Amino acid sequence: MKNVLITGVGKGIGKALAEKFLKEGFFVIGTIFSGEASKGGNISLHKLDLSSRESIASCAKEIASLGKKIEILINNAGVLLDEDETKVIPEKLRRTLEVNLIGTADFTELVIPLMEKGGHIVNISSTAGSLEMSGRGISHHPYHYPAYKISKTALNMYTVTLASRLKEKEIIVSSVHPGWVRTEMGGENADISPEEAAEGIFKIAVSRPETGKFWFQGEELPW
Ligand SMILES: NC(=O)c1ccc[n+]([C@@H]2O[C@H](COP(=O)([O-])OP(=O)(O)OC[C@H]3O[C@@H](n4cnc5c(N)ncnc54)[C@H](OP(=O)(O)O)[C@@H]3O)[C@@H](O)[C@H]2O)c1
Repeated sequence: MKNVLITGVGKGIGKALAEKFLKEGFFVIGTIFSGEASKGGNISLHKLDLSSRESIASCAKEIASLGKKIEILINNAGVLLDEDETKVIPEKLRRTLEVNLIGTADFTELVIPLMEKGGHIVNISSTAGSLEMSGRGISHHPYHYPAYKISKTALNMYTVTLASRLKEKEIIVSSVHPGWVRTEMGGENADISPEEAAEGIFKIAVSRPETGKFWFQGEELPW
């Protein structure tokens, strides 16, 4: 049985991803932020707050003690703290980077030693973080959600640097845009359901695409 580690499985895309991987016969190790840890069947849930170094370290230790090799890591958990403002609010930027970038990278570094040769790390990013798409006005309004956008652009650079570092270990690292999804973050008017987003992410996560790229439904996105 293959093992997948997914962050933020309590709701939204992460929850749908956990259900999809279970259905496909994976053992799912999930992290949970506001809910409770639990174990049962083919799923094991562990508390994780990506804004806390202590929580990241103890969660990684708990996961290591399961003694399972991880084939796929999906860094799904994330926050969108910007509201209608278009200027950077330093405190929001700090809190956003703490979860979407620093905590995610910190956690990933602790999980890499648990990963198999031939594994795949999927960073759930966003077209909102694409310099090219935002700059050309293809994606979101250039001035909106600055903290969120900055965090996803930086996460994309983590994908690129990590991909080249892990080439020798034959671990693929990808950034993946899930689509505009009907979750608490995406809102009720978004294009697709969390289940539809999970289908697309699953497909790329179990495939062996070229490492260090940015994907949406099988198509490569510009950085
Ligand atoms: N929805 C969209 O349209 C869209 C578009 C592009 C990219 N994305 C990306 O897709 C990913 C999932 O988004 P979503 O729409 O499913 O959002 P969501 O419904 O708001 O879920 C976010 C998840 O992150 C977890 N989380 C929040 N703060 C955390 C922290 N400090 N430590 C650990 N986990 C934390 C949440 O835990 P709790 O359940 O406990 O609150 C939840 O499981 C995010 O990375 C997001 O940026 C979403």
